[in-house]
Amino acid sequence: MNILVIGSGGREHALCWAIARSPECGKLYCAPGNGGIAEVAECVALSAHDFDSIVAFVREKDIGFVVVGPEDPLVKGLVDRLDAEGIASFGPSAKAARLEGSKGFTKDICAEYGIPTAAYGRFSDAAAAKAFIAAHGVPIVVKADGLAAGKGVIIAMTMPEAETAIDAIFGGRFGEAGAEVVVEEFLEGEEASFFALCDGEHVRPLVAAQDHKRVFDNDEGPNTGGMGAYSPAPVMTPELTERVMKEIVEPTVRAMRDKGAPYKGVLYAGLMITKTGPQLIEYNARFGDPECQVLMMRLASDVVPLLKSCHDGTLDKAEISWKDEVALTVVMAAAGYPGDYRKNTEIKGLKQAAALDDVQIFHAGTKAEGGRIYATGGRVLNVTATGATTAEAQARAYEAIARIDWPEGFCRRDIGFRAIERETQSA
Ligand code: AMP
Ligand code: GLY
Repeated sequence: MNILVIGSGGREHALCWAIARSPECGKLYCAPGNGGIAEVAECVALSAHDFDSIVAFVREKDIGFVVVGPEDPLVKGLVDRLDAEGIASFGPSAKAARLEGSKGFTKDICAEYGIPTAAYGRFSDAAAAKAFIAAHGVPIVVKADGLAAGKGVIIAMTMPEAETAIDAIFGGRFGEAGAEVVVEEFLEGEEASFFALCDGEHVRPLVAAQDHKRVFDNDEGPNTGGMGAYSPAPVMTPELTERVMKEIVEPTVRAMRDKGAPYKGVLYAGLMITKTGPQLIEYNARFGDPECQVLMMRLASDVVPLLKSCHDGTLDKAEISWKDEVALTVVMAAAGYPGDYRKNTEIKGLKQAAALDDVQIFHAGTKAEGGRIYATGGRVLNVTATGATTAEAQARAYEAIARIDWPEGFCRRDIGFRAIERETQSA
């Protein structure tokens, strides 16, 4: 079966890498792809927003399955369009992707189905939002309702910060995504990313991972799309996983079915593990990036029938098995990220780095030109390694990074520190 993956990041490189290894995969295409993806798939210059061209390409190349990586085309209805054309795909419909596309929608489902989450209010005018903040005090969290490329959340430690955030969102900083605001209680605890697959009817847990959102070591500096991740996440004990499934994921899947928007695809629950138990911070309607990279490294079973079963409604019978290893990925970003950064700087040493055992380098923002690789994005490479422990996987990833010659890049030096602390304590 020929397969098309939509997207251009490290997540899509990892998906393509795993899909290309499947005996069920014929020719693999990725639109638009990147310099690293080109090694495992044929990259095609199609925009994720140009549904007509995607449908035409699927027909032309006899593609049997489309895997949608990022949230934007999901929220805009790519899967609905493919469904209407009789083309099988992985991902939720636009209605179901509202779990990511509208924070207010998700909070209301939590309220209706008793799903643990921070207390909140939804507002469409600044005065009411500010009155709520005045009544609750700080710290408090202010969020633009819609998709804001991960930048729509402001943790306000003071009243002026909270009020400035409200004015900025209603002032149009996030465009349409800020037509409505969610204000919620600040939760304390350790964060984890938990993934489950759904086929509209059945739901099965995958595994958890932990991301590092801040740009600098020790979780300092501004938030980013994610500077590194590892899986498993030791904070997610088997007991907690069971609670997350029963208290958060299963009621959500039931709610979506009740609302006539059955959820198909991967449900990514951003969790805060608090003193009293797991709370939902937010849902995403796609795999995490860079969490997907470590999940794909650990997945032992064939990814193609697994993703396909979410479309076919046969997830209950699908095989899901994991390697008994830790996978860890370190993001190399362009100096200056998440602010301004230079583009088109050359990266050398990738072959020497990838030659190490148990190391895979996924490209997040690169292009290949004349046999050379150039950085084109903020997050550029995901240097990923496996090991028997987090410490071992971490050492291997940093060994690979030492072989990469890219003076204009940087990375955090402490990815995995929480898990390594736990490993040291229990040793
Ligand atoms: P989100 O885009 O909703 O995942 O939010 C981005 C980040 O903001 C999360 O990963 C958390 O670190 C933080 N955050 C969001 N909501 C809360 C909350 N209610 N309490 C504490 N931190 C939060
Ligand atoms: N790593 C965070 C995200 O994918 O949203």
